[in-house]
Amino acid sequence: MLDVLPPESARWIDVVTRFAERARRFGFGLLMTPILEHYEVFQRVGENTDVVRKEMYEFVDRGGRHLALRPEGTAPVVRAFVQHRPPVPWKVWYVAPNFRAEQPQKGRYRQHWQLGAEVLGPPDPDIDVETIALAHGFYRDLGLKQVTLLINSMGDDESRARYVDVLTAYWREHASLLGDEMARAEANPLRILDSKREDWQEMLEHAPQLGEYLTDESRTHFEHVEAGLQALGIDYDIAPRLVRGFDYYTSTVFEFTSNALDAAQNAVGGGGRYDRLAADMGGPPTPGMGFGIGIERVLIACDSEDVLPVPEPHCDVFVVDAVGGTEATRLAYELREAGLTVERAYGGRAVKKQWSAADRSGAQYGVMLAPKEMEQGKVAVKDMRTGEQVDVPRDEVAAVIATRLEGRPS
Ligand code: HAM
Repeated sequence: MLDVLPPESARWIDVVTRFAERARRFGFGLLMTPILEHYEVFQRVGENTDVVRKEMYEFVDRGGRHLALRPEGTAPVVRAFVQHRPPVPWKVWYVAPNFRAEQPQKGRYRQHWQLGAEVLGPPDPDIDVETIALAHGFYRDLGLKQVTLLINSMGDDESRARYVDVLTAYWREHASLLGDEMARAEANPLRILDSKREDWQEMLEHAPQLGEYLTDESRTHFEHVEAGLQALGIDYDIAPRLVRGFDYYTSTVFEFTSNALDAAQNAVGGGGRYDRLAADMGGPPTPGMGFGIGIERVLIACDSEDVLPVPEPHCDVFVVDAVGGTEATRLAYELREAGLTVERAYGGRAVKKQWSAADRSGAQYGVMLAPKEMEQGKVAVKDMRTGEQVDVPRDEVAAVIATRLEGRPS
């Protein structure tokens, strides 16, 4: 689990703010749910998935309740939908930590943060298109160019039932290669499809494809999604073996992968439709669609592509104190209350050292409190770029600096 320290954390604020702004434009409101849920909330995510079977942080609390730390964001959203019954379409976004006891490595952590968006409402393919467009534009806004959109359809129940029969028969033909995994292939045949095992790749390449077994209704839905993406100029590749890691998916599924990341952790986001989940959780049957974007991975991708750098230190004003007492505290406070970003030194350091600190702080202006100027009701204001220094009446210093800052690029 990572600590995020300044100045790196400034990028997190930036990323979350940009996402919040995009989500607002697309008509999504922020949803905040607890970090803990009843264990059962996540059962529907997939009893055959590693996330639920092996990776959940679960425990019994003091009241004997079986609880789990959220491993993913969709089930809590649907739980909240079922509980509060808001009018549909219900469009919410979230930023939240998720916990999975995975093997940690670069880009794979036991706590990771997701930006996500979910829509509960009709199974209209336009919702799929708009939701994908929300995520797609977010990567573009960050300046990422090496992100690819992969899409597929998982079909409806009937499509999958047809397909599962054919696929299971195919796995049985390859039972010797599947070895111990044959039981898993029988229990959940789709889960084998997106395996990254080298020695299976040929078998997987020749496996029957879900797309060939879609019902007319599923095919029409998928074609509409494709037409919508094309209309918006969003490039995509069809990935016939993309099935995603949770049991709740139906119909459209998608993933955003970054070519700038190692193949094993190259998914910077993913999602899809989950048209039965609300009903499975005991709510009114309401289709759903959404995605989650891993913030840590997005930032690693930004590093690889050299975009969104960690910001250099920056402030408007550094207060240099040569008088002591409470004057520096008062001036810094006044300037901050006036809207300026203000730094200062502490502990009565030598004036020369304070000016060095002012240089390091990235300040645009230095303001020095010195005895002689103070007596005349003035402070010295120094432009840190040019070195030019002027005396300014104490009461006007905030206004003078604010006016000067307006005229210069930051
Ligand atoms: P997911 O694919 O498991 O989907 O996670 C979404 C994204 O979170 C991944 O694409 C990746 O960027 C990031 N991520 C996942 N696990 C880790 C990890 N251990 N360390 C770092 N980053 C990670 C979901 O969670 C679904 N709830 C998405 C969704 C929303 N589907 C429908 N609505």
